[in-house]
Amino acid sequence: MKIMSGNSNLPLARAVAAYLELPLTDASVRRFADEEIFVEIHENVRGEDVFVVQPTSYPANDNLMELLICIDALRRASAKRITAVVPYFGYARQDRKPGPRTPISAKLVANLMTEAGADRVLSIDLHAGQIQGFFDIPTDNLFAAPVMAADIQARYGDESLMVVSPDVGGVVRARALAKRLDNAPLAIVDKRRDRPGQSEVMNIIGDVKGRACILIDDIIDSGGTLCNAAQALMDEGAASVTAYITHGVLSGAAVSRVNNSALKELVITDSIQSTQATLDSDRIRVLTVAPLVGEAIRRIADESSVSSLFD
Ligand code: R5P
Repeated sequence: MKIMSGNSNLPLARAVAAYLELPLTDASVRRFADEEIFVEIHENVRGEDVFVVQPTSYPANDNLMELLICIDALRRASAKRITAVVPYFGYARQDRKPGPRTPISAKLVANLMTEAGADRVLSIDLHAGQIQGFFDIPTDNLFAAPVMAADIQARYGDESLMVVSPDVGGVVRARALAKRLDNAPLAIVDKRRDRPGQSEVMNIIGDVKGRACILIDDIIDSGGTLCNAAQALMDEGAASVTAYITHGVLSGAAVSRVNNSALKELVITDSIQSTQATLDSDRIRVLTVAPLVGEAIRRIADESSVSSLFD
């Protein structure tokens, strides 16, 4: 088995390799003067089971292209099996046509990975589980919930917890976390805009008064969804609001929005490499998913059960 990394999240790739007690494959991913990507693998990979770690986070297009070119280089070097390890799958939110004459880019990206030569895909908390069906190759979708639940128990286990979904679409994810927290009660933030142009009204379904609320979601991008939900929960009398989000996309002014929000703490994972602003924030904490990804890779290589990781 070999672990190779692109440039998107080297610290995670190194931590995964360390978990597996393997060195990272000796390869260089460079750019020509015009920004074309060039990949060179400096060791033999013929007949190897190779895992390429490359989340397709910002800059999404460069990181995706880098992944595709790494896969192509491995295929042409006769690797036996290539697994694209994409902890954060960029473009996943474009998983349906939101209107006429619009693309389904998540499907296009799935096609590109397959066409480049990936034999399998390994991801974490795909925006929608159905995205697995966009691939005709095996996909494993890991869940960060066990890592989050352990942290919540350790930090907030003594408090009167309530798990909150920031929108109706996230209820299944929230329920799964609540189950891991000794069946903690559940609340839902229901966003309504009765007429176009009217400002959004947040209705909270569930009694959050005096509760330590745990907001859970797959992605924080601009931070709007989360910070507004946190404020609405505090307005309803919550004791505190902490957010656990798998993928810290944190674009634009998101970090300062979080720093100035009603959130007590935002906890993300290292599925995406943190920016300096994120690391400097005393409101944001990062949990590692390296052991989770490493263990899943070991099981895929050994052909043992991956789903039993979540029993
Ligand atoms: C949406 O369906 C996702 O689960 C997130 O809620 C969304 O991407 C967050 O975006 P933002 O942080 O920009 O509000």
